[in-house]
Amino acid sequence: MTQPLLQATDLVKTYGNGHKAVDGVSLEVSAGEIVGVVGESGSGKSTTGRMILGLLKPDSGSVRFDGADIHSMSRARLHELRARMQVVPQNPQTSLNPRLTIGASMEFNMRVHGIARAERQQRVSDLLGRVGMAPTYARRYPHQMSGGQLQRVAIARALATEPQLVVCDEAVSALDKSVQAQVLNLIADLQRDMNVAFVFISHDLAVVEHISDNVVVMNHGKVVEYGSAEQVWSNPQDEYTARLLSAIPGKSLMAS
Ligand SMILES: Nc1ncnc2c1ncn2[C@@H]1O[C@H](COP(=O)(O)OP(=O)(O)OP(=O)(O)O)[C@@H](O)[C@H]1O
Ligand SMILES: [Mg+2]
Repeated sequence: MTQPLLQATDLVKTYGNGHKAVDGVSLEVSAGEIVGVVGESGSGKSTTGRMILGLLKPDSGSVRFDGADIHSMSRARLHELRARMQVVPQNPQTSLNPRLTIGASMEFNMRVHGIARAERQQRVSDLLGRVGMAPTYARRYPHQMSGGQLQRVAIARALATEPQLVVCDEAVSALDKSVQAQVLNLIADLQRDMNVAFVFISHDLAVVEHISDNVVVMNHGKVVEYGSAEQVWSNPQDEYTARLLSAIPGKSLMAS
């Protein structure tokens, strides 16, 4: 059997107040797979995402990327690895520097990883095209763009270092339903065409089900359900998942 791209095992994280935010989470992501992580606010999704990215150290448990334990490697090695694991944050308005053009923001990420100037500029145009935007957008500033456009830029920026894994934390939650659907379709296209794996975090099971291969349902820091998107959607084994499903408008009308 081939080893998964990412393997998180028994992650535990307790914050200062003694509250266990994540309590024994294990999950796997294969190359080119989309794994949805869903649960209510405070269930530990972002904490899990940050541990997967090596941004937060777990109290116990391990995260292996391509077989290597990311929390026990040197800073230099983790920095190198960061190019292969990127994040699309919830709010691009706050994550993109308002004083930098879109192109400069995208290049910054590449420069940090030692990509040469000519190559950086080429990638900016290519990636803007990939997310459905003209190369001239590179000269715009964040305030000159809509929320949906900024989220596309955030995705393009994440892809600039040619990562194998992108963690999207509530990446479409702030968008209108129609724009949300466009961005979800874009992610599905990118996954198919570029074989990028995604961990897609959302409080909305309907959003996650739409694009995920596998779905992890979290409640109070624990994984309460883990299976194929189809199985979780049509035949949930856990009572909490069933409750999340029953809260989705129109769910009962959809063919399963
Ligand atoms: N830096 C922190 N210090 C203390 N407690 C924290 C911190 N970050 C998160 N928590 C707590 O840990 C728990 C899990 O938080 P987390 O942000 O991982 O949840 P989440 O599932 O991402 O929620 P949301 O859907 O609201 O983004 C919550 O109870 C939260 O209050
Ligand atoms: Mg969160």
